[in-house]
Amino acid sequence: MGHRIALPEPTRNYDQDAEWFVIETTNGWREIKFHDYAAIFEIPGLYEQLFYDTLCCDSPRFMCEFLAERLLEAGENPGRLRVLDLGAGNGIMGEELAKLGVDLAVAADILPEAAEAAKRDRPEVYRDYHVLDLTALTAEQRGSLREYRFNALTCIAAVGFGDIPPECYRAAYNLVEDGGWIVLNIKKDFLTDEDPSGFAALLRDAVHHNALEVAGSRVYQHRLATNREPLHYTGFIGRKRADL
Ligand SMILES: C[S@@+](CC[C@H](N)C(=O)[O-])C[C@H]1O[C@@H](n2cnc3c(N)ncnc32)[C@H](O)[C@@H]1O
Repeated sequence: MGHRIALPEPTRNYDQDAEWFVIETTNGWREIKFHDYAAIFEIPGLYEQLFYDTLCCDSPRFMCEFLAERLLEAGENPGRLRVLDLGAGNGIMGEELAKLGVDLAVAADILPEAAEAAKRDRPEVYRDYHVLDLTALTAEQRGSLREYRFNALTCIAAVGFGDIPPECYRAAYNLVEDGGWIVLNIKKDFLTDEDPSGFAALLRDAVHHNALEVAGSRVYQHRLATNREPLHYTGFIGRKRADL
């Protein structure tokens, strides 16, 4: 049985970084912001119940299927991918990668609560789980990440909104070998000229300077908002051609 949770009335509109819900606890109802991942991951099953069962999030499955199509077209075997899953959370993307046949996936996340939740909920999906800030790596951390010789980077539902900043994404990108696969989804609004997140410029420059070759992009429904309207994201599959 799930938790007792409730969302705001659908007639209310919230920005995505202001969305909230309430959950019944032994001390009464508690309000939690959607982006308070530490609080959500600490309660078993809550992340899945809120985002997947209630708000129909589909991004890990959608993006893995998209990747699978492009791998097939390129004649590449998913089993040879060595994936860095950035902003891995409690491992839902890792689970999809395992279904695809990926043998080596390594997680990185800034939150210790995410790593603990992944160990609790999906202990089999990652070879290792690193809790770290990629913008402030020690020489030892950088060395141990390089040893994996990543040839793929996945980053799902984790950029923009005060989550992964461009400099962190850039650091992860530069850990991937040239020719590696890049799998990223991002809210459509973050790709406009007015984008405040810095990702529109990062991606534009990456393509312009031939550091990223886009193998495909698709706009799709990431999940529902609390007003039950669809939130559209753009999913990219690309090949790394050079460091950012
Ligand atoms: C919405 S969750 C997505 C989790 C997972 N990718 C999924 O699709 O279920 C966003 C994740 O990004 C992580 N995150 C936010 N800022 C980060 C940073 N600077 N470095 C690494 N991870 C970060 C959060 O801790 C959280 O686990």
